[in-house]
Amino acid sequence: MRKIAIIGGSKGIGNAILNELSETHHVFNISRTAPDIPSSNVTHHSCDILTDNLPEIEELDGLVYCPGSINLKPVSRLHLDDFRNDFEINVVGAVKTVQKYLPQLKKGTNPSIVLFSTVASKLGMPFHASVAASKSAVEGLVKSLGAEFAPTIRVNAIAPTVTDTQLASKLLRNEKMIENMIERHPLKKFLNPEEVASTAQFLLSDKAASFSGQVFEMDCGIVSFKI
Ligand SMILES: NC(=O)c1ccc[n+]([C@@H]2O[C@H](COP(=O)([O-])OP(=O)(O)OC[C@H]3O[C@@H](n4cnc5c(N)ncnc54)[C@H](OP(=O)(O)O)[C@@H]3O)[C@@H](O)[C@H]2O)c1
Repeated sequence: MRKIAIIGGSKGIGNAILNELSETHHVFNISRTAPDIPSSNVTHHSCDILTDNLPEIEELDGLVYCPGSINLKPVSRLHLDDFRNDFEINVVGAVKTVQKYLPQLKKGTNPSIVLFSTVASKLGMPFHASVAASKSAVEGLVKSLGAEFAPTIRVNAIAPTVTDTQLASKLLRNEKMIENMIERHPLKKFLNPEEVASTAQFLLSDKAASFSGQVFEMDCGIVSFKI
């Protein structure tokens, strides 16, 4: 059974990934709160990635880093600490995790790392300066680490548009906002966590053996099309 560490499997997209993987993999979940999944294939470690030491895990074949932020404000209202905090959770946390588990991943079976960006790295949108800066750094990491770890460890990112999770709840607070969000996207939909989880599961699997250094836009058309 392959062994995968998920940072942030208690909620949202990470939780959907954990749900899918726990049927066929052993999953080590690392988050501040425990996931509500009664499976003997899941080991939970309570840890705040910003302040705590990561737990020891002996063997790993894959790593998914989910913590992130959606901190949307006009740049005049974004404090420098907003930029620093977004960089810490999106970038430094991912680097800390990769550094910690690199020895185990190097010894893993066809190991794969999955990080998360956002459509806001490619599509300029007002009020996204801080998150766009941090997630663009994540995309830089994917390129650099993908090259550094080739041919042993594959590194990719998923860049989702709005996904129906707690993190995006402010963007989807009522029927009108939900309708507007659907209408903004050329495919007339936004994402649910399960479909993002399916892409992550693919990238962790041997079916994605030829992909590294890639950012997979799950954009429902919003970056790709002007209709
Ligand atoms: N949702 C969207 O619309 C959207 C759009 C574009 C990109 N993304 C990106 O996709 C990724 C997943 O998003 P999501 O919506 O699933 O997020 P979410 O619902 O906020 O879930 C984040 C997960 O990370 C964990 N986490 C957060 N801070 C942590 C910390 N300091 N230490 C340890 N664990 C921590 C949380 O667990 P605990 O609270 O239990 O610690 C939770 O399990 C993020 O990188 C996000 O930026 C999301």
